[in-house]
Amino acid sequence: MAFDFASLVPAGSPAPAVRWTPPGKYNFTFGNNDPDGLAIEDIEAAAQAALSREGRRLSDYRLHTGPQGYKPLREFLVRKLKRDAAIDCTADDILLLSGSLQGLDLVNGALLERGDTVICERDCYEGTINRFTRRGVNIVGLPVDRDGMKMDALEQSLAALKAKRVRPKFIYTIATVQNPTATILSLERRKTLLLLAGQYGVPVFEDDCYADLTWDGQRPPSIYSMSKAENVIHLGSFSKTIAPALRVGFIVASWSLMSRLLPLKTDAGSGGLEQMMLAEYCAAHFADHVPQLRRRFRAKLDTLVAALNEQFGTAAEFDYPPGGIFLWVKLPDNVDAMQLRDAALKAGVVINPGPEWSVDKAYSRSRVRLCFASPTHDEIREGIAVLAEVCRNEFGVPARSANVERRAGA
Ligand SMILES: Cc1ncc(COP(=O)(O)O)c(C=O)c1O
Repeated sequence: MAFDFASLVPAGSPAPAVRWTPPGKYNFTFGNNDPDGLAIEDIEAAAQAALSREGRRLSDYRLHTGPQGYKPLREFLVRKLKRDAAIDCTADDILLLSGSLQGLDLVNGALLERGDTVICERDCYEGTINRFTRRGVNIVGLPVDRDGMKMDALEQSLAALKAKRVRPKFIYTIATVQNPTATILSLERRKTLLLLAGQYGVPVFEDDCYADLTWDGQRPPSIYSMSKAENVIHLGSFSKTIAPALRVGFIVASWSLMSRLLPLKTDAGSGGLEQMMLAEYCAAHFADHVPQLRRRFRAKLDTLVAALNEQFGTAAEFDYPPGGIFLWVKLPDNVDAMQLRDAALKAGVVINPGPEWSVDKAYSRSRVRLCFASPTHDEIREGIAVLAEVCRNEFGVPARSANVERRAGA
């Protein structure tokens, strides 16, 4: 009989994985990029140029540029972050990562212990919520409106925690094109956030991976750039602008934190070829590539919005997002998004149910997140039509699709 490892797995470990099966035909999950948006020839040329010039560096775990990652890529980031996010930093303030998820793990590993408290937006990236939960951390989720996290709620929450002698370890915020609400924290609120953070002695953890994807290319300055107190951690990624499978992200932090992160990055360095290729590619093409990607995403969003309007009518409520790759949709109150997810899956449509993307399971019960970057325009149209049919069969809504009155099962 095959050896069973289950009895050796420590209590509290994550549930075992199920074997991978290909996703449904209509996949609105996972935050993947657009396969047609990749400039494969330029990427290939960049890899080739980097390899023929500097391929010998791959003989060293750290590419001969130390534990913080390939220096030319960090130098590109210094210029990019200055131009786009108003950040003044040097290559020594940047640590290259195996995806920004590694940054979440490193910061959490450096700062959190069981029983700690963190503050974040009420609806929040699943990967962040799961990481906090796994570490046994208390999560305080704050409401957002179109201008991002509500500062009166933050102030109340900080005051209430202080009254209980609780000092949160940090305020985690996806301030610029939030996941899943796609809201952007206004400049005024960024100022208030920093004021409150300073007043209560709580650092801010800014996860900025969608910030390049606003439709008009405009964004408020990063929170990191606005702080004079070195109390902000800035996290970024190449996943959403170039390609997630490269697994390259980065963190910008003061030495006081960086010196705590480095000992925890025990993988002896992130993938070298990816970093070398990105440095080569980004220096020449990043500034031109991103605007065309934004146009692609926006066109897909418009297809999604048209499909939802046609198939769901007023049964699907949402704010038109200012950028990003997903739409946060409110369905009628009787729709249970978890049940809808399961039923849709059987019909080949994959969606993210709200409760998995929110700290507040009741608030998010009838909400779903739809990613639109990866499916084609046809898949978006067809997938939303199938989703509407499934939703009608399960919950009786939407009553009309494509301006035709329908009955469940009809
Ligand atoms: C808010 C947020 N942070 C981090 C990540 C992880 O990205 P990466 O591919 O850089 O690890 C994601 C991915 O969807 C995300 O939405």
